[in-house]
Amino acid sequence: MIRLSNISKRFGDAAPFAVNDVSLSVTEGETVVLLGSSGCGKTTTLKMINRLEEPTSGEIEVDGRNIAEVDVLSLRRSIGYVFQDIGLFPHLTIRENVEIVPRLLGWASSRRRARADELLEQVGLAPGEFASRRPAQLSGGQQQRVGIARALASDPVYLLMDEPFGALDAVTRDQLQTELLRIKTSFGKTVVFVTHDLFEALRLGDRIGVMNRGRLEQIGKPEELLHSPATSFVAELFGHARRQADLLEGAPS
Ligand SMILES: Nc1ncnc2c1ncn2[C@@H]1O[C@H](COP(=O)(O)OP(=O)(O)OP(=O)(O)O)[C@@H](O)[C@H]1O
Ligand SMILES: [Mg+2]
Repeated sequence: MIRLSNISKRFGDAAPFAVNDVSLSVTEGETVVLLGSSGCGKTTTLKMINRLEEPTSGEIEVDGRNIAEVDVLSLRRSIGYVFQDIGLFPHLTIRENVEIVPRLLGWASSRRRARADELLEQVGLAPGEFASRRPAQLSGGQQQRVGIARALASDPVYLLMDEPFGALDAVTRDQLQTELLRIKTSFGKTVVFVTHDLFEALRLGDRIGVMNRGRLEQIGKPEELLHSPATSFVAELFGHARRQADLLEGAPS
């Protein structure tokens, strides 16, 4: 499991807190969604979990070990990370992009290739058609699928996903959400998923953590946030969702 205890981060002594005293834990097999608007500290929080950023104060444990004291590479081996900006290597083929971590782990080329092709298949990209292309020859949504395949390549226990379905049309987004739910259930991944989309959070999150200006306003099951919001910020956010849902239910078909 993943546990954050009183985590704060500021980028410089005079800077405001990007993340301010956040504590939360994610249990095995659970999906926790971090929800909040632009600049509230979601990416910074996610990055600290695999040490792409170091906290200014506080402690993070993964599998009961303080991550400041474990080898970064072995930490990252257990964590798949889907970047907000995807970050595929443009000069590598799609297959080579997916093989990056297995290559670092020293897998034989036949095993790497079989794994990459299996994953491309799983995220809906036929290897025969896509594996030899470069990222620039894929649509944005297809590139996001590659980002997900790459994060899954070494079969990590944990998956950190930073707005992986941002900038996708509603239909593709819906398909990929379904796909993620399937992958999560069949492979038992523990997921931290970042989004600014409330409906995506409601669909994917076993629990949702609402962030606002670096603070975790509340974390709980969707129905807890809907029915017993802890702060006016959460009440307003979920009140809006409820009104939209009511509108949809009341809409003539
Ligand atoms: N490397 C950095 N140096 C200085 N400030 C930073 C750095 N990275 C993030 N920040 C600041 O920290 C705050 C939180 O940024 P973060 O990227 O975590 O937000 P976010 O919630 O992921 O936003 P978005 O939804 O737009 O991706 C912002 O005010 C941002 O400007
Ligand atoms: Mg972000």
